This record gives sequence, C-alpha cells and structure tokens, in this order.
Amino acid sequence: MKNSKNTVPTWRDTSDVYLRQILITGGCGFIGSHVVRLFVKQYPQYLIVNADKLTYAANPEYLKDIEDAPNYVFVKADVCDHQKMEEIFGTYAIDAVIHLAAESHVDRSITDPFAFARSNVMGTLTLLQTAKTFWKKENYANHTFYNISTDEVYGALDFEGTPFLETTPYDPRSPYSASKASADHFVRAFYHTYGMPVKLSNCSNNYGPCQYPEKLIPVIIHNIVHNKPLPIYGKGENIRDWLYVEDHAKAIDLVFHKGQTGETYNIGGNNEWQNIKLVQKLIEITDRLLGRPQGHSLPLITYVTDRPGHDLRYSIDTTKIATQLGWQAQMSFESGLEKTIRWYLELFGEE
Ligand SMILES: NC(=O)c1ccc[n+]([C@@H]2O[C@H](COP(=O)([O-])OP(=O)(O)OC[C@H]3O[C@@H](n4cnc5c(N)ncnc54)[C@H](O)[C@@H]3O)[C@@H](O)[C@H]2O)c1
Repeated sequence: MKNSKNTVPTWRDTSDVYLRQILITGGCGFIGSHVVRLFVKQYPQYLIVNADKLTYAANPEYLKDIEDAPNYVFVKADVCDHQKMEEIFGTYAIDAVIHLAAESHVDRSITDPFAFARSNVMGTLTLLQTAKTFWKKENYANHTFYNISTDEVYGALDFEGTPFLETTPYDPRSPYSASKASADHFVRAFYHTYGMPVKLSNCSNNYGPCQYPEKLIPVIIHNIVHNKPLPIYGKGENIRDWLYVEDHAKAIDLVFHKGQTGETYNIGGNNEWQNIKLVQKLIEITDRLLGRPQGHSLPLITYVTDRPGHDLRYSIDTTKIATQLGWQAQMSFESGLEKTIRWYLELFGEE
C-alpha cells in the first residue's frame, strides 16, 4: 500500500497528526475525483485515503494536482475484496467512509447486470461489514458511513409527476438502479440492525469535467468536435435534472459534516432538460467555441433505437437539503456547460 511518494504511512504515524482519517471509494472516477480534491484541499487536518479499483471509468490523472499532498493516499483496491478492505482499515484509523465506488453506466448494466450486482451490491456490503468489524469495538462512536446514491432508485415519472421526495418509495427499473437501490437498503439495514451511523444522499445527473466519454454530454461534445452522428435515444423526449459536479461535491461535504445520522438527502439542480433540448444547447455552445457557424452541427442529430426500459423523467425535490442544511446549487447551467465543453475540447483536441 503506497502513496505517490512511496512511503507507507500507517495509523501509528498519522493518528496523532490527523483529526480524521476518511476512506473515499471510487475517488478516481468522475464524481469521486471532485470529492477527493475538495476534501484534500479543504481539510488538511484530515487524511484522505482514496481506494479505487481503477476500472475503465477511472483516471488517476484527474488527481495529478493533489497526488503529492501530504494528507492524501491512493490505494488500488476492489471494494469487493474483503481482505484488502480490512487491510485498509487496519493500516489507517479509518473513522468515516464516503462510498462512491460503483459501476455507473445504465447501458452497461443492461448488457452485464452481474458486474453491477458485484461492485454495487456486494462491494457496498463488503465495506459495511468491514466498517462494522472495526467500528463496533468503539460502539460506532464518531463514525460515519456515507453512501452516495442516485435519484434513479425512485423510478420514473411522467411529464406531470411530482418530484421525488426522500420518502418516495423505491421503484428501480434498470439493473443499475436496482443495484444502487439494493446497496441503499443494505446501508439502512446496517443502521437499524447494528446501529451503524449512516447517511445517504440521492443525486440527479451530474455533468462537468472528468466524466468518462460514454455518457450523454461528453459523447455529444466528442461527436460534434469530430463531425460524427449525435445519437439520441428514441425521440429525445426523456427528461433529466442536471447538476454541476462541483455543486454535488459541495453537497456531499455538507451532508457529511452537517447531515443527521440515519437520514437521506435528495440533491439536484432544479434544472430539468429534455435530451433533445440539451443536445441542441450543447451544439449551440460547442459550435460557437469552435468558431463554427450557428447551427452547423444540428444536421448531425441522429435518432437511434431507444434504450430498453428507458425511464421517461427523473425530477428531484431538494427542499430538505435546502431548508435543513442551507444547500443550493451555485453554478448556472449556461456557465457550467461552457466550462465543461471547454474542458472536453482540450481533451478531444489532443486525440
Ligand atoms: N454520474 C452521475 O450522474 C451520478 C448521479 C448520482 C449518483 N451517482 C453515483 O455516484 C457514484 C460515482 O459515480 P460516477 O459517475 O463518478 O461513476 P464513475 O463510473 O465515473 O466512477 C466510478 C469509480 O468507481 C471505481 N470502481 C468501480 N467499481 C469498483 C470496485 N468494485 N472497487 C473499487 N472501485 C471501483 C471506478 O474505478 C471509478 O473510478 C456512483 O456510486 C454513482 O452511482 C452518479
């Protein structure tokens, strides 16, 4: 187990130095990398241990700017590997977990649901069991297991449906959302059964830099740049709520520090877009940034066979986190999209 400086700090070296030792899983992925960066920079008094299996979706380069920070350690590890999880808890005095590691792409869950059951369900259970083993000795005092989940567990809405509340019954409809719902159920089961201090949050679609280019926004930007067809499922009617990834990371910070144990918080951008309208917006900004005439890439729009079981609409009610914790999204969609597109233009420009 090494950090980037090839030293092996153990809890013996670090427990006097750091106020908290926090395990963040999936920290080399899209959202995880923003959460790790925020915690490493904002809380020099915390040791941040990032455990990531480094699947296709990960990129350690995302964290190049903080890899040498004294309060940061990276461990290549699969959260399903119980022995490895015990090794991490035994090496560092882990007192909190922020769990993001997961298989995250709905299309992949349709072709390989077992991979999702493994990482998302068994991985979460393995982490919970490890935390229980280490934390129950201290009666869970000052510990937190924070599970990062999705609005997709609540099912699908029609155009008029009222936004999801924290109390909306779970109704997952894809193998991905079923695996995330199952993980959430295990997290709550550990709270009720063993007294594990847990928190959960369910967030809508994130966008921003560092997302693996298989999801809608980076795929569309990539294909605009390369003048390739812009694939849109069905008629492009599906609606998603979009939140800038750094706003999600700030919400995670807030829930982690100020959220009530045993509670769930919905996080979203109050920013619903039909897929077709979103793609038109991406074309408008990307063409402008590329110096192309307005509407240049519109003919690239190509409707493709819909995803099986494609949920029509997700919408999230953020009243609880707004009123109880004072959170609200800060990034406007226009600025967030432009920032994101500029980031991808640099990335794709190097291809
Ligand atoms: N992307 C979104 O819009 C969104 C919205 C709400 C919630 N979430 C949730 O947030 C979390 C992160 O999502 P993301 O979009 O950053 O995903 P991502 O696919 O970009 O990154 C996932 C990370 O987890 C790691 N990982 C996967 N399986 C692992 C395993 N078995 N052991 C250790 N590491 C493993 C990967 O290597 C990768 O670095 C997930 O739990 C996801 O369900 C995502």
